[in-house]
Amino acid sequence: MSIIRHPALAKEGLAKIDWVKSYMPVLTTIEKKFSKEKPFRGLRISMSIHLEAKTAYLATVLKAAGAEVAATGCNVLSTQDDVAAGLATLGVEVYAWHGATESEYKQHLKQALSFKPHLMIDDGGDFVNLLHDDAPELASDLIGGCEETTTGIMRLLAREKAGKLNFPMVAVNNAQCKNLFDNRYGTGQSTWDAIMHTTNLMVTGKTVVVAGYGLCGRGIAMRAKGLGANVIITEIDPVKALEASMEGYRVMPMDEAAPLGDVFITVTGCNRVIRKEHFLKMKNGVLLSNAGHFDVEVDKNDLASIAKKIETRKPNIQGYYLEDGRILNLLAEGRLVNLASGNGHPAEIMDMSFSIQSLSLEYLSKYGKTLGKQVISVPAEIDEAVAQMKLSAVGIKIDHLTEAQRAYIQGV
Ligand code: NAI
Repeated sequence: MSIIRHPALAKEGLAKIDWVKSYMPVLTTIEKKFSKEKPFRGLRISMSIHLEAKTAYLATVLKAAGAEVAATGCNVLSTQDDVAAGLATLGVEVYAWHGATESEYKQHLKQALSFKPHLMIDDGGDFVNLLHDDAPELASDLIGGCEETTTGIMRLLAREKAGKLNFPMVAVNNAQCKNLFDNRYGTGQSTWDAIMHTTNLMVTGKTVVVAGYGLCGRGIAMRAKGLGANVIITEIDPVKALEASMEGYRVMPMDEAAPLGDVFITVTGCNRVIRKEHFLKMKNGVLLSNAGHFDVEVDKNDLASIAKKIETRKPNIQGYYLEDGRILNLLAEGRLVNLASGNGHPAEIMDMSFSIQSLSLEYLSKYGKTLGKQVISVPAEIDEAVAQMKLSAVGIKIDHLTEAQRAYIQGV
């Protein structure tokens, strides 16, 4: 029995799910195949992932494949109540609402695992932590799971290294059809979409500081440049810093960037990237936002410690008023802005990420029991199949090697 906040919003939620479905042709192809073959017949699948329309569509695909499915969010601000309500009418057990407290959120995670899943989808590692540390009994039937994001993979690798991973986890984030498109183009577009509609301000001519020039940071910086911003990158990795510099961005430490920036976006997976000493140097009116997985990159405690008053200035924008009259604006409580104050990545992008998820779960259902307690890469055949299906869906043909070319390349 689903536990949601606003069942009356189901109609709006269903319309949102229907909309994204029209732009997710690869996942629709997989849905048709799964509906016939029922690869998850008799299996239970739990999902902890940003609960919005694309995710909801993924849940229905897993259900069409024969699974019993339970879903919850992975961030209290990214759950959309209308989508949760719509999904609950489609036979998926949903345990989530927007703005849940920390303890409600934990309760939702537990409820989504309470039917002892065979397979799971995690986003950021909260399911995995719970199944190892708080409620290992809920993992008694678990074959394995898939992890959606970079931060979750980092946590998994640490567990694996310490010999404390109890089941196989597929690193979906590391598939090429996931991170080349989702992290770069998805985060690039949706972060700006969220910042622009939340603030209703110009990007052109502003100085934008992007902390972290990884898979996501590249996309955010690229789109900022395209919007006419002056972009500054901060990094800790010399190779990435050099790459950013060759791309034409200014590169400097946060300490130097702090007084220059109009908009700050952290996307590192690290904590306290922007902290007290940086806030103290910032201009009046700056926008502070984060696109990394956890709300630890912009240090909210430090920010609160220097503010004489904190006030909501607009939905999802809190003004921190300093003694000297400056106001520093924090978007979406420092949670990942594109989901907490936006709709997440475009449907066409999640088409690939969730196709990888679906096929990786199918792979786990077939081979999971033999894979060992480790972090596993998505098989290259899955990556290639998804890329090929996407190309076909958008009507792009490519060349194929002749036998003579194959022999030449292979040197025989
Ligand atoms: P990545 O590992 O490719 O990039 C992170 C970059 O940040 C690296 O280049 C690293 O050197 C740099 N970095 C680390 N600590 C730093 C610090 N203190 N100051 C400056 N730079 C620092 O990771 P990716 O894939 O770009 O992910 C970054 C974060 O975004 C993760 O938390 C990930 O889970 C999250 N993510 C968010 C998405 C969204 O929709 N908002 C989508 C995908 C990932």
